Parts: sequence; structure tokens; C-alpha cells
Amino acid sequence: MSAPRPLVVIGAGGFGREVVDLVRDVGRAGTAYDLLGLLGDVGPDAGVLDRLGVAWLGPVAALADLPRGTAYVVAVADARARERLAAQADADGLEAVTLVHPSAVVGTDVRMSPGVVVAAHCSLTSNIALGAHVHVDRACTVGHDAVLEDFVRLNPGAVVSGRVTIRRGATLGTGAVTRQGVDIGAGSFVGAGAAVVTDLPPGVVAVGVPARVTRDVGDGG
Ligand SMILES: CC(C)(COP(=O)(O)OP(=O)(O)OC[C@H]1O[C@@H](n2cnc3c(N)ncnc32)[C@H](O)[C@@H]1OP(=O)(O)O)[C@@H](O)C(=O)NCCC(=O)NCCS
Repeated sequence: MSAPRPLVVIGAGGFGREVVDLVRDVGRAGTAYDLLGLLGDVGPDAGVLDRLGVAWLGPVAALADLPRGTAYVVAVADARARERLAAQADADGLEAVTLVHPSAVVGTDVRMSPGVVVAAHCSLTSNIALGAHVHVDRACTVGHDAVLEDFVRLNPGAVVSGRVTIRRGATLGTGAVTRQGVDIGAGSFVGAGAAVVTDLPPGVVAVGVPARVTRDVGDGG
């Protein structure tokens, strides 16, 4: 049997710590990694990391000191920050891997690009494409023929219906739901608990049931 592959988690906030446990659960299910530790520019709470039993490897600049080929995931919710950190890790010769919690139910035809993280209790059905560094947090469902472009994030409990397209860097808030076939523009942010029933343009915040645009957040990446 080959030795477990060394892996670092970039991001030492709440989601970074959740991903540490995800890595351990994935290991118990058969794909063991040698978890070297967490990195991030926002300092961690030492007591919390102690209880988690994981090492702090320093700020993101320390990526350059790791052996080329070290595996990584970026566990940072903000899409633009995630994109910047992934570019830095790639430039330093690290390799993004995909982590899928063993409790997730993943259909036969679900395609995942490097850097995808699927957390516990998710369900993804048929003919689904997840782009690079997509996060599907706990207990989300993703229906048939959905496309989640690079750097999309689904916060816990989001529901993506069939034939929905979520463009690059967009985020669905906790418990947000989508009507089948809608298209959510790049970089847009759907508020917690919203119901998206019509297409959303790029670069907006939308909240409520039905979701209405409340403000612009820029060019949408
Ligand atoms: C949508 C969101 C990004 C808006 O943030 P914001 O632009 O800073 O908005 P504010 O908090 O200033 O609120 C602006 C208005 O929108 C309302 N609002 C904010 N979020 C809302 C939501 N999810 N649903 C309905 N209304 C919402 C506020 O009540 C406020 O209304 P008012 O002007 O009548 O007082 C944020 O509230 C949200 O829902 N984030 C998702 C959180 C999440 O998923 N967390 C999980 C992390 S794992």
C-alpha cells in the first residue's frame, strides 16, 4: 500500500476546521491523506486548533516552502479570496484535490474538477458538472443537469434544482432554493433562505421569497 499523500488545508477559519474533520472522515472511508496542517493569513485560535489536534503552518506565504506536488484544498468561503489562494497554490507547485464526504450520495454521472469540496449529507444526482474549487457545504442537494461553474459555493442546506446554472464565483446562502432551470450570474450572492425563481444577473445580492435584487457587488468576476 502506498503512503498517504501529504495535504494542506488553506484557510484556518470555521470552514477550514470543518474541512480538517472532513479529511479525517475521508481517510476512515479509505482515501487517507497525511494532513500536514492549516495555513492562512487570518490567525487561528490556538486553543481551538489544539483541541482539533491539527498543526498551524503559518501564513499563506508558507505555501512556497512546501514540496511541489503537495495536495491542497482551499477552505475559504469568499469566492474571490478562494480564487486568489488557489492561483497562489498552483503557482507554488501544489496540486488541488477533490474531497467528498463519505456520507454524500453522488450519482454515477457527476463530474468534479480539482479543488471541489462536498461536505457531509449532500445529494447530487445525474449529469452534474462542478467546476474547479466549488464548495458544496453540508446537506445541500443538486439536481439533474445542473452546472456549477468554477468557485461557486453552496452554503449549508441550499437546494439546486434540475437544469440550474450557477455562474463563476456565485454563492447560494444557507437554505436558499432555486426553481428549475434558472441561471444565476457570475459573482452574485443569494441570501440565506431566498427562493430564486427567475434568472439573476451577474454581480448582485438578492434576498427574499421570491428573491429580489437588493444591491450590486461589482462586475461579478
Ligand atoms: C444576503 C446577505 C449577503 C446580505 O448582506 P448585506 O448586503 O450585508 O445586507 P444587510 O445585512 O445590510 O441587510 C440589508 C437588508 O436586507 C435584509 N436581509 C439581509 N439578509 C437577508 C436575507 N437572507 N433574507 C431576507 N432579507 C435579508 C436585511 O434585513 C436588511 O433589510 P432592511 O434594509 O429592511 O433593514 C446576507 O444577509 C446573507 O443572507 N448572507 C448569507 C449568510 C449565510 O449563508 N451564511 C452561512 C455561512 S456558512
